[in-house]
Amino acid sequence: MPMLGDSAPSFTAETTEGTITFPSDYFGKWKIMFSHPADFTPVCSTEILELSEMQEEFKKLNTQLLVLSTDGLNSHIEWVRSLEKIQAEDGRKVGINFPIVPDVGLEISKKYGMIHPRMSSTKTVRGVFLINPENKICAIFFYPASTGRNLEEIKRTLLALQESDKNNVLTPANWYPGDDCLISSPSSREEAEKLAKKNDPNLYSKDWYLWYKKSK
Ligand code: BEZ
Repeated sequence: MPMLGDSAPSFTAETTEGTITFPSDYFGKWKIMFSHPADFTPVCSTEILELSEMQEEFKKLNTQLLVLSTDGLNSHIEWVRSLEKIQAEDGRKVGINFPIVPDVGLEISKKYGMIHPRMSSTKTVRGVFLINPENKICAIFFYPASTGRNLEEIKRTLLALQESDKNNVLTPANWYPGDDCLISSPSSREEAEKLAKKNDPNLYSKDWYLWYKKSK
C-alpha cells in the first residue's frame, strides 16, 4: 500500500481515452485518481456525473482526473455511453472526457492498496489519490462502497496542497481559498519573540506557536 510521499505506482492501460502510462504521461500536472467498485452502480454513477460537471474546473487547476473501476474496457465504454445519455436527457452536453481505466485482474487496485479484503476481495473501496506534478502521492482518502464522495472536499484539498506548494504555508481547519493561512511554528519561545520583533504586517499570532499569514 503506497503512503504519502511515495512515488505513485506506475501502470500502462487501455482506457476509454486510449492507451495511457500513468503517472508519467502526466508529469508536470496534478493528478487525482478515483477508484470505483464497479460500473453501472448507482453511487459510482452519481460520482462520475458530478466529476464530469467539474472536469473543466480541474483542468484549469492543471489537474488530470483518472477513474479506475474493476470492470473491463467494453463495460466502461457502455457505462460512459449510458452516463452521457443521462446528461443529454438532462439537457447537458458535458461528456466524460477523462480516462476510465479497466482493472479486471486487480493488478492496479492491488498496487494502490485499494482492495480491503474484509470489505471485498474482488472490488475496490472508494479510493482517492492526489498526486503532485512530480508524481508523488500527497493525499489519500478511502470511503466505503456505500458512501458517495464529497468532490468539493477533494477539490478543496487539492487547492490547499497547491497553496502550500506555491506559498510555503500550511492551511488551517476548514480553509478555503481567500482565508488566512498558517506558517510553521517557531521552534521556541525565543524564536517566536524574534519573529514578533520583525513586526511583519502580513503575520499575526494567537500564541507563540500559532502564527497566521494574512491572505490579503
Ligand atoms: C454503488 O456505486 O452504488 C455501489 C457499488 C458497490 C457496492 C455498493 C454500491
